Amino acid sequence: MSELEKEIHKRRTFAIISHPDAGKTTLTEKLLLFGGAIHVAGAVKSNKIKKTATSDWMEIEKQRGISVATSVMGFEYDGYKINILDTPGHQDFAEDTYRTLTAVDSVIIVVDSAKGVEAQTRKLMEVCRMRHTPVMIFVNKMDREGRDPFELLDELEEELKIGVRPLSWPIDSGQRFKGVYNIYQEKLDLYTPSKQTVTESIGFKDINSPDLEKHIGGPLAAKLREDIELIDGVYPELDINTYLKGQIAPVFFGSALNNFGVKELLDCFVKIAPSPRPVEAIEREVNPEENSFSGFIFKIHANMDPNHRSCIAFVKICSGKFERNVNYKHIRLNRQLKFSSPTAFMAQKKETVDEAYAGDIIGLPDTGNFKIGDTLTSGEDLHFKGLPSFSPEMFKYIENADPMKSKQLQKGIDQLMDEGVAQLFTNQFNGRKIIGTVGQLQFEVIQYRLLHEYGAQCRWESLNLYKACWIESENKQQLDDFKKRKAQYMAVDKEGRDVFLADSNYVLMMAQQDFKDIKFHFTSEF
Ligand code: G4P
Repeated sequence: MSELEKEIHKRRTFAIISHPDAGKTTLTEKLLLFGGAIHVAGAVKSNKIKKTATSDWMEIEKQRGISVATSVMGFEYDGYKINILDTPGHQDFAEDTYRTLTAVDSVIIVVDSAKGVEAQTRKLMEVCRMRHTPVMIFVNKMDREGRDPFELLDELEEELKIGVRPLSWPIDSGQRFKGVYNIYQEKLDLYTPSKQTVTESIGFKDINSPDLEKHIGGPLAAKLREDIELIDGVYPELDINTYLKGQIAPVFFGSALNNFGVKELLDCFVKIAPSPRPVEAIEREVNPEENSFSGFIFKIHANMDPNHRSCIAFVKICSGKFERNVNYKHIRLNRQLKFSSPTAFMAQKKETVDEAYAGDIIGLPDTGNFKIGDTLTSGEDLHFKGLPSFSPEMFKYIENADPMKSKQLQKGIDQLMDEGVAQLFTNQFNGRKIIGTVGQLQFEVIQYRLLHEYGAQCRWESLNLYKACWIESENKQQLDDFKKRKAQYMAVDKEGRDVFLADSNYVLMMAQQDFKDIKFHFTSEF
């Protein structure tokens, strides 16, 4: 194996996703502790923007500051290079999370054992499913009274629409929580409240051995045997390939707060989670082990300080090796660019790096050259797929509130959209500009940034829409007919693609019924 292949094969780039409060921050912190990336608990600041939809700007700015530092957390563990990509907790920033998911090779989902599958988890899982991202599930907070684990597994399968295979199994829960039987490693991992670790880990191949009673007592031993028998009967053995295809999710149980079951999750994760996978470009499939460098921008983080209008563009390296001060081709601009201070993210610190490999994320200081989805390569013309826009959920007309500053407004809107803060549609009927977001907070972000970074003022006018659908059809006549009939509701997105703005679910259903040859897509890539 070449050096390059070795480097790439040891990389595990993933995101942890969950509904707020399920324990994502706590789990991340524990993983960093194992990697020696931090040394004390409490070092990871949650990048949660407070749940009360706050318009307290200082707070949001502070939080954004933290989130750039924790955007990517890289560390070494057991010979592997691990990159955790953080995702914003606040649901108004879900679009950021969708995009981050395009840069990971796998995902760990955290579920609260008492609450089961919650709204945001369901939504994020849809994105994973679309991309066939391999998923592992950590059922957290076993130290609290939770739901019956079998019931939870059923719910995971049903709600997340993915098969599951438990690789550990809880022995009781809440105050009586005794630990787990680690099916993957054939061990009995015992729990002592507030000990912050697995207090005893006993090799236990044969669950029928009478030793089991000694450790957990008669009734729990009987129950555990019964449960494991049922599991073996109902769930087929884990087949790594079905996991890698995103069809089966291995499930672990534990308690992140008590650091229980986290190392076990991590040990299994590094073994079975994929190293960087081939990435589809319009031209061809790009293999990570190829010698030539290629990568794409999946996130742009603006500096909130108006005096330093610089950004960091986050690049996921898709193939080869990236080197500092080497010329790379910016495909959209058809220009050679070289970067003197690319940063990597190790142990929560941003530092300049000389090289990085496929699977890694690097930050490139930028002053407006990059847009989300841009490709950089060693020279070949490649355009990576898989960075779709998703239909926004809230829409408003944006109006200029200061006629003297219309140029600034235009520039500001363009740049903020390139950064992926929200989506812009132009209504074809009246030429008005519509901003679509996934949450109220973005409208405030946009208004604030337009004023502070561009000196432009905007006004919002409410607009009641249900969804924006990208439409296509091979039946040109039907498409034209539809566009004519729905002229008032036709818009184009930033790339000039046709978008139908449906004002209700009913209208959309009727349109789908009446125009059978037209496909209505909820993402811009199909
Ligand atoms: P999030 O990033 O997914 O939003 O969740 P976070 O880790 O911040 O955890 C949410 C709350 O759940 C925190 O409590 C955290 O301490 C708690 N928690 C996480 N894992 C466990 C666990 O295994 N068992 C129990 N019992 N609690 C857990 P908080 O009171 O909201 O925050 P804090 O003030 O303790 O930080």
